[in-house]
Amino acid sequence: MKTFRKVRTALIGCGMISDTYLENCCHAFNILDVVGCSDIKPERSAAKAEKYGIQQMTNEEILADPSIELVINTTYPVSHYAVSKAALLAGKHVYSEKMIAATLEEALELEQLARERQLLLGCAPDTFMGAGLQTARKILDAGLIGTPVAAQAILVRGYHHERMRTDPEKRFAFCPGGGIVFDVGCYYLTGLVNLLGPIHRVCGFSQTRDADSRVYGHPANPLYGQVMAIETPNNTAGTLEFESQVICAFLTSSESINVTNSFIIHGTDGCLTLNDPNTFGGPILVRTRTGEALSVPLTHAFTTNMRGLGAADLAYAIRNGRAARAGSATAVHTLEAALGIIGSGESGQLYTMTTTTERAEPLAAGITEYPEMALDL
Ligand SMILES: NC(=O)c1ccc[n+]([C@@H]2O[C@H](COP(=O)([O-])OP(=O)(O)OC[C@H]3O[C@@H](n4cnc5c(N)ncnc54)[C@H](O)[C@@H]3O)[C@@H](O)[C@H]2O)c1
Repeated sequence: MKTFRKVRTALIGCGMISDTYLENCCHAFNILDVVGCSDIKPERSAAKAEKYGIQQMTNEEILADPSIELVINTTYPVSHYAVSKAALLAGKHVYSEKMIAATLEEALELEQLARERQLLLGCAPDTFMGAGLQTARKILDAGLIGTPVAAQAILVRGYHHERMRTDPEKRFAFCPGGGIVFDVGCYYLTGLVNLLGPIHRVCGFSQTRDADSRVYGHPANPLYGQVMAIETPNNTAGTLEFESQVICAFLTSSESINVTNSFIIHGTDGCLTLNDPNTFGGPILVRTRTGEALSVPLTHAFTTNMRGLGAADLAYAIRNGRAARAGSATAVHTLEAALGIIGSGESGQLYTMTTTTERAEPLAAGITEYPEMALDL
């Protein structure tokens, strides 16, 4: 019989999203034993340590503690590579926030390091493990919309309105690895790969609008009126061709005040309108040959903001000797797809993917009483 041994875990990067992680990882998942947290700003780690009853640590103390098996990396994207690399070199399993790294070279290096050291490396998004996209997967795999042929993923939201309010540090969406095609586009790419499988080729157009001329626009921001360098594309239209021959239109823009999410898979016998893949719940709508669009009752658990689910799944993967669902292969593959669209815009050439991945194992349906059970395989 299997024994249940918690995975001692520490979190590095105590910013905004760390609250959701710490809340879920300390209270919602029994497999995780969160013992400490760190940040380059010690006042931040001190506050989180006190709030969640864990130890305030430095990065170095976490890495030097042999009892800590798993590091959750919730630093901002330009720090992901260095923090994950240091943790892998220290012999820790790693679960990172997205993107796994800012460049494909860095991402491949992390993956190789993990492989050589027989460590698990996982990466957000984990929303594809939520009730909405798992229900969609079940519908798709059951053949209710026939053979998927095309998809649309359209994401528009205005970062310069949304992000430039008062905090001068909140600019990772404008740094390498952080533009909208990465920052939120990754939810669509990861959702698509987990529904449709790996991508074969991509192409696209990509722009970095107002790269050197946009200013911090909110008077409450200490940098108000100063130029804000935009170091990542912010207006991108891509096309994806999956190995399964499905083609997908993929638009990401942070340049309009408009907010639009449209995420649809079209099949030979119907279509599937998906939830915002930045969320865990529904609604999931199915239109078949026989009728109107029907809202489908969700068949799976994890309907609310369960960020950390991917880390909990990785912890079970450690104990059960299996692959993590939110694993590095898909993280590297989706990063390559986003970079490929940008590169295609620059070169005018189609980009053929050099990496591949597999759809993650679906979660068992109907396990709502003790949902963590679905991970313990
Ligand atoms: N904010 C959100 O709504 C949200 C949602 C989902 C995912 N994410 C992802 O989570 C990550 C963090 O986002 P956030 O909004 O919490 O950012 P944030 O800027 O609020 O927090 C990041 C924290 O990491 C710390 N940090 C940076 N480099 C470090 C290092 N080398 N060692 C230790 N600490 C370091 C910073 O001091 C900061 O406190 C990003 O990758 C983001 O894409 C954010």
